[in-house]
Amino acid sequence: MQRYELFIDGENRKAEGDAWFPTENPYLGTPWAEIAQGTARDVDDAARAAHRALHTGPWAELTASARGALLRRLGDTIAAHARELAEVEVRDNGKLFTEMLGQVAYVPQWFHYYGGLADKVEGTVLPLDKKGYFAYTKKEPVGVVAVITPWNSPLLLLAWKLAPALAAGCTVVVKPSEFTSASTLELARLFHEAGLPPGVFNVVTGFGREVGAALVEHPLVRKVGFTGSDATGRHINQAAARDFKHVSLELGGKSPNIVFADADLEAAVNGAVSGIFAATGQTCIAGSRLLVQQDVHDEVVGRLTDLAGTARMGDPMDQDTQVGPITTPAQYTKVLEYIDIAQREGARLALGGKAAERGGLFVEPTVFTDVHNGMRIAQEEVFGPVLAVIPFRDEDEAVEIANDSRYGLGAGVWTGDMGRAFRMADRIRSGTVWVNTYRAVSYLAPFGGFKDSGLGRENGIDAINDYLENKSVWINTGAPTGNPFVLR
Ligand code: NAI
Ligand code: MG
Repeated sequence: MQRYELFIDGENRKAEGDAWFPTENPYLGTPWAEIAQGTARDVDDAARAAHRALHTGPWAELTASARGALLRRLGDTIAAHARELAEVEVRDNGKLFTEMLGQVAYVPQWFHYYGGLADKVEGTVLPLDKKGYFAYTKKEPVGVVAVITPWNSPLLLLAWKLAPALAAGCTVVVKPSEFTSASTLELARLFHEAGLPPGVFNVVTGFGREVGAALVEHPLVRKVGFTGSDATGRHINQAAARDFKHVSLELGGKSPNIVFADADLEAAVNGAVSGIFAATGQTCIAGSRLLVQQDVHDEVVGRLTDLAGTARMGDPMDQDTQVGPITTPAQYTKVLEYIDIAQREGARLALGGKAAERGGLFVEPTVFTDVHNGMRIAQEEVFGPVLAVIPFRDEDEAVEIANDSRYGLGAGVWTGDMGRAFRMADRIRSGTVWVNTYRAVSYLAPFGGFKDSGLGRENGIDAINDYLENKSVWINTGAPTGNPFVLR
């Protein structure tokens, strides 16, 4: 069986103790490779390598423009290998090849965009209000960045952190999900071949409690970028706070997809179906609560169950497959548990509701109606193909239900009334609001959560500042006597 070693300081190497763990193909239910099981010692080696590369050697010497050019080359490298990288992703997480190829083929944009920003990070000259002094600001890399990623979109979610970090001049240690380590290691090899200097991008594979925790606690790490569950995010936030590390946390959601009676119902139903069943519901922005205005409730539910009921489950590599397996056995069990919980809470099963007859980690696309927003199925993230339909009377009630959540990641609004679209966009407490569309994401658009959905925003121009420190420099240019700025 194929083996993947750690990648530290520009080299592949075994983990301390030479331990390995298997990674499975969720569709076949069989292991396909072995991954080096890193330890705290390996994390220490990687963090030291990253710290060295930050301060000495070719990376530290690069001008911002040269760094930008290198980032654009890294983007081109991904584009040239998109197919093979997407295949590795599918082998590990079971998502549809068509979706993963689209995703990986879009990843170069992050490297091109942040590569372009690298030499546009500017300081300012401060217009001081007293004579004899000159002051300016400059931005510097925050330091070694720890990146911890989940299994649903490994390379995409890595790129959201890696591209701005590198553009800012930082160096990085990544801990990919133990379920999907391979693509990140493939990427490290490709980047090395494309000329990224040793120590700039290190990968320590292994388990969260061991490698992830050691990385977050490492004294040389100055910032942690994380995407994953809110439980782990809370843990990381607390651990990082002990030595005042910067954090960006992109966590879960229970995003409302809101259909008004005046909407184009066909478009809304299509958006609702792809909003929850794409990626088998395993996305942080899944539109897992469908809020439907009373007058069109039955019609929408009818069309929705008709459409989702025809979804073809099967081999994720097959062009015709519409719904793939759940990625991990634990996640599969969790999804079935939530289906059970919803039924015990009194929700009415309108579609699906069980493991698919074909076996494996497949769960039927499932729709619950008669859901009350207080039920667990409406409040907790399932991360699977399970939709909770909740009726509402009017705009005010839609807003009230939408915001009655500890999460605030995404929201969809389907309406033919532009005034209503703007009002809803104002009133919904979430990091993104989509009107007459759903799940649109780009390197250009800030992305992140309100409330328990996280801290900080990824993507867009501002995100590079999360990887920079701002420094003020004061120069006495010949002040007459004393220091007029001493205020304390
Ligand atoms: P998780 O949040 O535990 O794992 C994400 C990453 O964090 C992995 O690389 C893991 O190894 C690492 N990690 C775990 N414990 C850690 C610790 N103590 N310190 C540092 N790193 C640690 O998510 P998991 O177990 O893979 O999935 C569980 C649930 O998380 C899912 O059911 C889903 O609800 C949610 N989830 C949300 C995602 C999102 O995109 N927001 C992505 C994946 C999962
Ligand atoms: Mg796997």
